[in-house]
Amino acid sequence: MDATLKKVTILGATGSIGLSTADVLQQHPNRFSTYALVAHRNVQGMVKLVSCLRPEIIVMTDEQAAKDLQVVLGSTAKVHTGMQAAIDVSEAPEVDIVVAAMVGAIGIPSALAAVKAGKQLALANKECLVTAGRLFMAAAKRYSATIFPVDSEHSALLQCLEGHRKDRLERIVLTASGGPFRQRDPETLKFVTPAEAIAHPNWDMGAKISIDSATMMNKALELIEARWLFDLKPDKLSAIIHPQSIVHAMAEYIDGSVLAHMGVPDMRGPIAYALSADDRLSSGIKSLDLASIANLSFEAVNEDRFPAMRMIQDVLKADDVMAVVMNAANEVANEAFRHGRIGFTAIVEVVEYVLQHHDATPANCIDAIWEQDQQARIMANTMIKQHRSIH
Ligand SMILES: NC(=O)c1ccc[n+]([C@@H]2O[C@H](COP(=O)([O-])OP(=O)(O)OC[C@H]3O[C@@H](n4cnc5c(N)ncnc54)[C@H](OP(=O)(O)O)[C@@H]3O)[C@@H](O)[C@H]2O)c1
Repeated sequence: MDATLKKVTILGATGSIGLSTADVLQQHPNRFSTYALVAHRNVQGMVKLVSCLRPEIIVMTDEQAAKDLQVVLGSTAKVHTGMQAAIDVSEAPEVDIVVAAMVGAIGIPSALAAVKAGKQLALANKECLVTAGRLFMAAAKRYSATIFPVDSEHSALLQCLEGHRKDRLERIVLTASGGPFRQRDPETLKFVTPAEAIAHPNWDMGAKISIDSATMMNKALELIEARWLFDLKPDKLSAIIHPQSIVHAMAEYIDGSVLAHMGVPDMRGPIAYALSADDRLSSGIKSLDLASIANLSFEAVNEDRFPAMRMIQDVLKADDVMAVVMNAANEVANEAFRHGRIGFTAIVEVVEYVLQHHDATPANCIDAIWEQDQQARIMANTMIKQHRSIH
């Protein structure tokens, strides 16, 4: 094995980000080798990835899925199982880069393990920064880990901020496509189906984040991430609707200059940047043809249509723990909508209810964060069960 190859672990390898990462890695066999692939239950997806990337270690966190995969792979490879195995392949001394792309708060322990082991972390999992941003960034500093965002907006922002004085920054602007319901009559939103909500106009993403985009909860979560990633006060954070998803983020400086980052909407761009930083890798993204796009448009966020964007203003100003509560309630409500247990507009109603009624106490360590997370989930589930009328 070539010693100059960077060894990569992908957490959440079978998901949308995991597959895009695999695509970029396969384009650069002279720069990267796959140390470990981690997924949960998608056995068929993992079989395909194993044959393409030839990882040294395979983990299915679900025990039955690990057994099923072992049967398929036979004696050619050993399949490990459990969350501890995911943590082990994140902190292993052999690993250079960890791509954290599990979905949900379940992705926090393995990503944090990578930070504490001083790795280069390509961070897609939103929940790490949303729920434990202060701890994460402090740990990165303490253990000399580098965190590269794998999110088009934050990757764009990183590139607009690099080389510029932060004390000359006026504000940052994250763009949002507005999702599939940007122009839909708000009165009809309560009747939309999960399939309609998942059908994002510009991005091909996992189900949970696609629904978060439709409610704009995704942008709310991204504002929290930006706060921690770039150490910005809430009054420096803003968002704007940009339906074409070509401009991903902007940084406005005190002299009135606005630096914008543009690119075709394709996650392989941010992934390539997170793997290589300013060295810049080819990613397979097609060239941006502005002449054929012709128009780039922008509009203010309508908070009546997207109440999550009103709610986030209060969350950003409150104690950190409110972001934990918001995220946990949203995960529960998002899943309930996907399984037909609540209507679309009830997602944000559930989150608002939990934010208002949860008796939150500040959480300064991961255990306390988990505790608050669990309590918020219980309250969200209780509300969903009690209020079947919120359909
Ligand atoms: N997709 C995007 O364009 C995008 C952009 C920015 C940020 N993000 C963020 O990146 C993360 C991943 O998004 P995604 O769209 O790639 O999600 P996704 O397509 O739903 O994939 C999720 C991945 O997480 C794995 N997973 C789920 N539960 C797990 C568990 N208990 N243990 C281990 N692995 C588990 C899944 O494994 P199985 O398939 O085997 O069950 C799958 O590999 C999310 O936090 C999302 O917000 C995504």
